[in-house]
Amino acid sequence: MNTKENSTLKPMEWTRVGLFSCGWVFFVLAGCVKEDSLPTSATFPEVLALPNLPDTLYPYAESTFPDAWLNDPALALFGGFGNDITITNEGAALGRVLFHDTRLSLDNSVSCGTCHRQAAAFSDAAVGSVGISGIPLSRNTPGLFNLRYQRRLFWDMRVVGLANQVLQPIGHPDEMGMNLGDLPGKLEGLSYYPPLFEAAFGDPSVNLDRIADALVQFLRSIRSYSSRYDAGLAHGFPDFSQSELLGKDIFFRGDTRCNQCHSGLNFFSTQPFINGLELDYAAAGDGGIGALTGDADDDGRFKTVSLRNVGLTAPYMHDGRFSTLREVVDFYSDSIRHHPYLDERFSDNGIGPPGQEPYRLELTEAERIGLVDFLHTLSDTAITVDPAFSSPF
Ligand code: HEC
Ligand code: HEC
Repeated sequence: MNTKENSTLKPMEWTRVGLFSCGWVFFVLAGCVKEDSLPTSATFPEVLALPNLPDTLYPYAESTFPDAWLNDPALALFGGFGNDITITNEGAALGRVLFHDTRLSLDNSVSCGTCHRQAAAFSDAAVGSVGISGIPLSRNTPGLFNLRYQRRLFWDMRVVGLANQVLQPIGHPDEMGMNLGDLPGKLEGLSYYPPLFEAAFGDPSVNLDRIADALVQFLRSIRSYSSRYDAGLAHGFPDFSQSELLGKDIFFRGDTRCNQCHSGLNFFSTQPFINGLELDYAAAGDGGIGALTGDADDDGRFKTVSLRNVGLTAPYMHDGRFSTLREVVDFYSDSIRHHPYLDERFSDNGIGPPGQEPYRLELTEAERIGLVDFLHTLSDTAITVDPAFSSPF
């Protein structure tokens, strides 16, 4: 029924027609539609929840990084991109709704928050997150925080600037599958968006630049600097266990060189490195930056992700190959692979050309446990429960 009309309608309108015509017939001529062929509630925008917004806006604009971060010359350098972005309470509040709204996807089933889950520091427990196509993504979903310091986005750092990144998952056929050209009109047709856009931008019109800007404001407001490690740093680590102190020493001591790549207050680097997961990454399925440049010395070069919140963001590495931090520590201790351009920090003396014999740390059992315990002290459970970042739906 209605096939002729339906074929000329866009998917969202089609679902509306489906609700009224087929649903109506369903009730009148019970049994015309088999129950198991009825679409799920997610197919009908009308029955999805409306956002539940606070009476007073959350103070996104007032919060900022601590002075130690803002005054750190290295971080200031990393943060040099996109600093002119102004975060307003209204803009970030709109971004919060957009981030968690499944209506940004073609079939209203997937939001950014589906894959970037707050409880997991905006990462995903799945090895490969699943979006609207049902096909698991080949790379692991990274956590989202301290994005001020992330000039280049994605594991292969292919996109420069957050504003240039945020619309991509909406249009990606496996993630949210939305035709970006249809998105502003779709949002304008939902009762709650025009007032939110008006509050954020001065008038209710919706366009892609505004959608991107609000998402950037929201994401940039997710700042993570409140872990047990941070508390310890300020007071000499009085509440660290012996095991955590041992792990801290191993992390910062010269032979492991963990902190030479995962460095500074954000435990990251703006430089990508090859950390010896494969002898030949391209042959193993993902050459990382090498797949973009075609250069042999970029094969397996990936973003040096921040280790903040790493206790919350399992599984690990670009492909989610390690399910626990213990597996990561065992890897660095015992089984870094030969690679023609393995970073020299993984050689015995840590200097010289790349591609040397990988070090074998042969950490003791207590040292492995300690390193894992230390990595857990970098978790910031403030961002995982802050209502300002939670789903309003
Ligand atoms: C279906 C799952 C999925 C959805 C939906 C999704 N993402 Fe992602 N996101 C990923 C994966 C996987 C990556 C890593 C991809 C890569 O590196 O190639 C990623 C990477 C990112 C990054 C880069 C982080 C970094 O440090 O480099 C940002 C920012 C981001 N997503 C924001 C968003 C926003 C905003 C939305 C919604 C508009 C969104 N994502 C929707 C899975 C998802
Ligand atoms: C030469 C630079 C370098 C050194 C030294 C280094 N790492 Fe890494 N680390 C990386 C890179 C690059 C990645 C991402 C690699 C990938 O996914 O292919 C990574 C990934 C990780 C991850 C996974 C993060 C995630 O969210 O998936 C952990 C945990 C980690 N490193 C801990 C350590 C520890 C502990 C040490 C010291 C024993 C260490 N790293 C030494 C560069 C380095």
